Amino acid sequence: LDILNPIYWKNNSLHIIDQTLLPSRLETISLSSVREVWTAIQRLQVRGAPAIGIAAGYGVVLSSLMHKNQPVITFKEKIVEDIDYLRTARPTAVNLFQVLDQFDNLITNSDETVPEICLAIEQLALAIHADDKDRCRQIGRHGQEVIPGSATVLTHCNTGALATGGIGTALGIIYTAKEQGKTLQVFVDETRPLLQGSRLTAFELEHAGIPATLISDNMAAMVMATHKIDAILVGADRIAANGDTANKIGTYGLAVLAHHHHIPFYIVAPLTTFDLTLENGQQIPIEQRAAEEVKIISGNYISPENTSVFNPAFDITPHHLITAVITDQGIIFDPDKHKIQDFYSNKYSEPKLKESLQ
Ligand code: MRU
Repeated sequence: LDILNPIYWKNNSLHIIDQTLLPSRLETISLSSVREVWTAIQRLQVRGAPAIGIAAGYGVVLSSLMHKNQPVITFKEKIVEDIDYLRTARPTAVNLFQVLDQFDNLITNSDETVPEICLAIEQLALAIHADDKDRCRQIGRHGQEVIPGSATVLTHCNTGALATGGIGTALGIIYTAKEQGKTLQVFVDETRPLLQGSRLTAFELEHAGIPATLISDNMAAMVMATHKIDAILVGADRIAANGDTANKIGTYGLAVLAHHHHIPFYIVAPLTTFDLTLENGQQIPIEQRAAEEVKIISGNYISPENTSVFNPAFDITPHHLITAVITDQGIIFDPDKHKIQDFYSNKYSEPKLKESLQ
């Protein structure tokens, strides 16, 4: 499989594929300040819940390089300020906060020198990246349990290499199925308004040689009624303690349709995407984005310029519509508060610094 490498750290800067230019241009840009990382996350040049967290981690490395000539107290204060600034880039994907909390703890609890802290920060960023790559592989492996040898699946948004540190979540299951020799047909929702499905997922699947059929979002019901769909596989930006899940706008609609058509509906996410501090989905903050994202396509207005717009970037799928959550540590069928609590407390561990990095 030829998998894209959308985020890497080299020569003291962060390099990312600029996802706003895809599919017409595959270009890498380099980011060398915290502000540039913030902007890249906010503009969706780097996007997808795990990828946002990974990029923010490298943002903290950039912060440490920027302030490394300060006395240790000021150095720590400046980095914590930058961490708090990075927290404001986007509100919904919990991975951003989950990652930034780890750096906050590292800095707050450290009594080491500036060069030692700089090294620890870089090691943590690399470890978080490597950890997500591992989790994607595990997800791909566990997901095979629900994918028959010959399968038609439907997916939404982009959950592949572009959205993570590895082969992806929902798409990771699809890539792994292909590696195992399964025959797959994938329906790809275009995912209005920003077209992550058509611009990114269709691009990734073509790159990997997996047959994909693009549909506009309003065709999903018709496809479910007329084709035998074996599974719907989507990602997650945050999963509350009871299993309610925030994911790209349109996911909730798919779950309702899947229920009506008796099609299994799977949320696919690493355990780092769970937020057990929130009881249910109503407590998940939903990002509202600019009206222009709905009104303008390729630089042209597709509506009267002054039309008012509602543009939530995510919706909440209630847990009772979710057949299972497929995680890196296994599958949680019929997710609810008790099952999630049990599963998480037995299986979750924070990213570990690799032996070679210690
Ligand atoms: O707004 P985006 O493009 O960052 O939204 C991304 C999604 O909703 C993905 O489905 C989710 O982050 C899971 S990515 C593995």
